[in-house]
Amino acid sequence: MMPDRLGFIREHTRLQRPPHTPEVELWLADEITPIWRLTEEELGEMGVPPPFWAFAWAGGQAVARWILDHPHEVAGKRVLDFACGSGLVAIAAMKAGAASALANDIDAFCEAAVAVNAEANGVAVAFTAQNLLDAPPPEVDVICAGDVSYEKPMAERVHAWLREAHGRGVRVLIGDPGRTYFDRTGLERLAEYQVTTTRELEDMEVKRTGVWALTSE
Ligand SMILES: C[S@@+](CC[C@H](N)C(=O)[O-])C[C@H]1O[C@@H](n2cnc3c(N)ncnc32)[C@H](O)[C@@H]1O
Repeated sequence: MMPDRLGFIREHTRLQRPPHTPEVELWLADEITPIWRLTEEELGEMGVPPPFWAFAWAGGQAVARWILDHPHEVAGKRVLDFACGSGLVAIAAMKAGAASALANDIDAFCEAAVAVNAEANGVAVAFTAQNLLDAPPPEVDVICAGDVSYEKPMAERVHAWLREAHGRGVRVLIGDPGRTYFDRTGLERLAEYQVTTTRELEDMEVKRTGVWALTSE
């Protein structure tokens, strides 16, 4: 673990409770531009992707809410939080009694974000930065994916990969606030929430956000 990144996150974000999942405390930013600029400086690179890890996205908040309210979905199970960002969903899964939680994100900064956030909540969460889409889905019981349909190529690849996981018997839960490339084919809506996010990220402060499960149809 890179101690400088842990310190960076603690210095430039603050502990906050996402509005829809106040049970979970996360190191989050209030504004996107300053933390994005600081991240570029820290990495010594320009044009890096946005610091998704510094915010609790509507899709992630919705899946985390569903899990916290329906702990049987994850209790005693191995859970993967795919495209984890802050690690909110993995942390919610552990709080709901999961046997283990693996957080995954291709943004290398997420390793530190997940570490500080798991510590803040007193839970253990493993992390991998591997691009899991390059291989068959891992051996887990549940895969959660919060807010992963904002770019077309990624959304299509993720949906196919999640469907493959479902075909192998994995329970797949997706949180989505109506992103452009969200494909509802073969999905059953479990819940719909009004999730408060921030105008820093979204066109509206409250996003109607669904929690969906892949089905066999
Ligand atoms: C909008 S954020 C959602 C973060 C979190 N799930 C939440 O809801 O707060 C999307 C995340 O997808 C991650 N991502 C993009 N492509 C990915 C891939 N192939 N594998 C894993 N994560 C990926 C990004 O780095 C980013 O953290």
